[in-house]
Amino acid sequence: MKDFAGKIAFITGGASGAGFGQAQIFSEAGMKVVIADVRQDHLDEAMAYFKEKNAPAHAIKLDVTDRAAYAAAADEIEKVYGSAPDLLVLTAGVNVFGPAEASTYDDYDWVVGVCFGGVVNGLVTFVPRMIKSGKGGHIAATVSWGAFGAGPTTAPYSAAKAAVLNLLESYYISLKPYGIGVTAVCPANIRSRIYEAAIKGRPEKYANTGYNVTEDTQQLLASIHAHGMDPRVLADWMKKGIENEQFLVVPYPSGPRMVEMALERFKHYASPEGMKYLEEKAKQPPTEEEIRMNCEREGYDVTKGGLRPPANAPQGSFKDVGFGKAKKDVDWVDPSKKVN
Ligand SMILES: NC(=O)c1ccc[n+]([C@@H]2O[C@H](COP(=O)([O-])OP(=O)(O)OC[C@H]3O[C@@H](n4cnc5c(N)ncnc54)[C@H](O)[C@@H]3O)[C@@H](O)[C@H]2O)c1
Repeated sequence: MKDFAGKIAFITGGASGAGFGQAQIFSEAGMKVVIADVRQDHLDEAMAYFKEKNAPAHAIKLDVTDRAAYAAAADEIEKVYGSAPDLLVLTAGVNVFGPAEASTYDDYDWVVGVCFGGVVNGLVTFVPRMIKSGKGGHIAATVSWGAFGAGPTTAPYSAAKAAVLNLLESYYISLKPYGIGVTAVCPANIRSRIYEAAIKGRPEKYANTGYNVTEDTQQLLASIHAHGMDPRVLADWMKKGIENEQFLVVPYPSGPRMVEMALERFKHYASPEGMKYLEEKAKQPPTEEEIRMNCEREGYDVTKGGLRPPANAPQGSFKDVGFGKAKKDVDWVDPSKKVN
């Protein structure tokens, strides 16, 4: 898709962070934007922005895990803008962190439900309508760099994101003959309010977490996201990916090399020699290339102050606030066995 002007974009999670950046960039490209979000306060803020700009925008309060509400939202757009969207952007997501071995069913049901289930619901709701419209179009999703690597404290999140990446590849292949492109964007740190999700955005029915989640852990997360990529810059990467009909966008100068290195890791996992290599490698300090890539992903400016994170980087306080730890009453988690 190269022309955006006059077309319709439907963006989940479009009222904050990455999704709001996408709403701004696609609106500036002349699109009519529909912002679908579960939080009314975020919707109100975003709509105030578009009202001030006098740009066509429509807000729908939508929980992406609610299939009936999703169908109603699709009907609503057809009524308001006259047809199915040309561009479907699946960005709504949540996260929460803690040791894999402390995870509860609620941790999985909530995170996987929104991050993976929400994308499934978007595809099942809109793909038939987009095909029937006969207009072609594009589907883009905000996945995560987490899709390429599992951390010890990210089990539900990185599993959901890896599943989304795989899912989108199926659609990328299937939808090509209909003139519908698919783009998966895999950023690392973004300047956003995702740290609010685990406290303000977690439904009561999924309240039972195995992780230590407090105001302090979320404030630490907020300080990390504060230096993340500007959502408008991320949206520019997404737009370019759509224009180029590119399936995968890793939004950094070293993006393709990062993917190569992530896949190499799997190559090593697949043989005894490779396993030995990885074990030895883990004992070595990171290479300059690895440090630079990490800085790109974290949002540290590698042109200022060399390749190291700045002195005020918040990592030092992870331990102090118990970030990524199990809840106290999870008595089978042995802190002496922690790997990070
Ligand atoms: N922040 C990061 O560092 C980062 C990194 C990689 C990927 N991502 C991904 O980017 C996407 C956007 O997150 P963000 O960081 O901009 O966070 P954000 O919280 O600022 O924005 C996400 C928006 O999604 C909405 N949302 C949450 N659950 C929803 C639901 N069930 N239905 C509808 N809307 C819902 C929230 O209300 C919020 O407005 C997510 O998929 C996230 O996993 C974020």
